[in-house]
Amino acid sequence: MDSQRSLRIGLEERIATLTVNRPEKLNALNGQTVDGLARFFRDAAGDEGIGAVIVTGAGDRSFVAGADIGEIDGLSALEGRDWGKRGQTMLRIVESFPKPVIAAINGYALGGGLELAMVCHLRLAASSALLGQPEVKLGIVPGFGGTQRLPRIVGKGRALELLLTGDPITAQRALEIGLVNAVVEQGELLSEAKRLALRILRNGPVAVELILQAVDRGLEMPLGEALDWEVAQYALSCSTEDVQEGTRAFLERRKPDFRGC
Ligand code: COA
Repeated sequence: MDSQRSLRIGLEERIATLTVNRPEKLNALNGQTVDGLARFFRDAAGDEGIGAVIVTGAGDRSFVAGADIGEIDGLSALEGRDWGKRGQTMLRIVESFPKPVIAAINGYALGGGLELAMVCHLRLAASSALLGQPEVKLGIVPGFGGTQRLPRIVGKGRALELLLTGDPITAQRALEIGLVNAVVEQGELLSEAKRLALRILRNGPVAVELILQAVDRGLEMPLGEALDWEVAQYALSCSTEDVQEGTRAFLERRKPDFRGC
């Protein structure tokens, strides 16, 4: 199936590397790739062999250069709504994934590519990467969450500059405005992403999942409700064997051996 060819999946040390694999189209997201991503993340959520996911693009030019413009061309309003919903549904599955997802941005992250990177929990960019929301240059509005997540990450003014000009920014500028967590050399990108994943995997897995949930759901709530939500996650983590192991290991001056329960 094309959806299988358009995604490559590797697994090492419980870290899955998911590569969008349409290099001849600079890894633009067509419908089958969108559905393949949704399927992967749905299946991987309950797969104990996977502790973290790295998302990247094939080749050294592009992470994802956007939604496939061929799929947008000539859409009616209703078809446009369905296409937007299809992308948004997939991206929400990634955003609410219960294990850490790291975007390794190895080149262009434009339009749907930046929207995909923004739902990942952490973002590393190659120094040569370019990030932007160029939809306005095509006369359309970003439809996979760009108008909503970009201002939440970088603030309204900076988001509007990117959204209204459509001009991309460099990885260094993305770092300055908090759009990426770090910038590294292209050749180091995947190894840095793996190192970051391994740092997280050393921690209590239940706490990692509950922190992801606390932030994901809490950010959408008024502060009072969000604090109640946090305390519910905190209370849950108090009852785990992991917290007993973590505190005991600290007192015994040894590394914890977390079991994820
Ligand atoms: N959708 C479909 N195809 C795309 C694409 C996209 N978003 N982005 C790139 N491609 C294709 C090109 O059509 C070209 O295919 P072809 O060789 O069959 O003609 C191939 O990828 C290489 O792209 P090309 O434009 O020749 O490379 P470039 O180095 O000159 O420019 C970009 C690179 C990223 C600046 C340019 O491709 C671009 O602007 N892409 C569109 C970005 C965009 O608007 N994304 C949001 C879409 S909603």
